[in-house]
Amino acid sequence: MSTITVDLGARSYPVIIESGLLQRLPEVMDSLTIQGRIGLVSNAPVHALYGSVVEDALTAAGCQLTTALVPEGEQIKSLETAAGLYDSFLQGGLDRSSTIVALGGGVIGDLAGFVAATLFRGINFVQIPTSLLAMVDASIGGKTGVNHPLGKNLIGAFHQPQAVLIDPELVRSLPHRELTSAFAEILKAGAIADRDFYISLANNAESMLAADNLPLLSDAIERACRIKAEVVSADEREGDRRRLLNFGHTIGHALETALGYGQLRHGEAVALGMHGAGVISRELAGLPEDDLRLLLKPLGSLNLPALPPLNHEAILGYLRRDKKMRHGQLHFVLLERIGQPIISTAVRDRHIRLALERIEEEYR
Ligand SMILES: NC(=O)c1ccc[n+]([C@@H]2O[C@H](COP(=O)([O-])OP(=O)(O)OC[C@H]3O[C@@H](n4cnc5c(N)ncnc54)[C@H](O)[C@@H]3O)[C@@H](O)[C@H]2O)c1
Ligand SMILES: [Zn+2]
Repeated sequence: MSTITVDLGARSYPVIIESGLLQRLPEVMDSLTIQGRIGLVSNAPVHALYGSVVEDALTAAGCQLTTALVPEGEQIKSLETAAGLYDSFLQGGLDRSSTIVALGGGVIGDLAGFVAATLFRGINFVQIPTSLLAMVDASIGGKTGVNHPLGKNLIGAFHQPQAVLIDPELVRSLPHRELTSAFAEILKAGAIADRDFYISLANNAESMLAADNLPLLSDAIERACRIKAEVVSADEREGDRRRLLNFGHTIGHALETALGYGQLRHGEAVALGMHGAGVISRELAGLPEDDLRLLLKPLGSLNLPALPPLNHEAILGYLRRDKKMRHGQLHFVLLERIGQPIISTAVRDRHIRLALERIEEEYR
């Protein structure tokens, strides 16, 4: 078992990572002194796999449980679904000392976290992430929220959990595409923070993703969590340090929007965005050719889908809008070397065009 601390003074919390953790949940809940009423949020497929283990553990720990299942999919990250959860939990008798537990991927975590942040102006919250993306990224850091018809994650709050409980065994039931796409966020963590880790990921990506090598993947999960926890500990809100986590996301988000949500998994868009950011880093930040090659090497293991021709103007238009929302500056995360990121405001349209051309050549 490893415990990583997200260090935020009085709001510090442990990220506990252990294969088989779910089976030991009663002890773990005991050690976290979580008692009283619990509102459990999950969806049907995840609940069918892991719900009863979690519910039994919480009940054995003496908690009174209200389970609320929401449908699957990004579209349920909405104020309407949140309103339904308030109803369930108020009717279920939750009070200011109660705890909301999220059991699911990033969608469930963001939604349940938002409800925990707002119900009674904020109650305790525990994350049990079940997708790889939620384990290494979404469950840590306290960003909670729902979508608005005009855009993703536009409504939300910072609300740190009391604990994040990660059982890497749970990735065994994930659809393969969820696993490979989320791996991009692990690569991102290595690229911005730890060259040796990135090299080991580049060398082992194939076998980590073959799912026959869970110990290897578990180590990578732990190291990625450590990186995220360190960044969040140093910079809880979106300062320059936390912005580094956006490596690959500027072009990634633009591609997600331009191709239409649902075409690419978020991690796939991030992988393509990392490719683009690598090309721009070579032009603007002195990233050596060898490092660019190393950066791109493991992206080949992600089974990225073939892309249609990209509409460069639409993508540039999207980035311009992004820039407007950020006081006229596009903060682009580039790499001087792998493991040494910088934030640049020098990226121009021609750099983006070059990056898009290279992405098209590689993934057509
Ligand atoms: N809060 C943050 O800091 C942060 C960071 C990154 C992403 N996010 C958010 O996370 C969301 C994406 O998360 P995601 O990729 O986990 O998607 P998701 O929550 O939709 O989960 C992906 C799919 O896998 C299923 N699933 C989850 N765990 C499973 C398991 N163990 N076995 C079988 N199936 C399982 C889910 O039901 C779903 O169909 C987005 O809404 C994004 O905005 C938040
Ligand atoms: Zn991301």
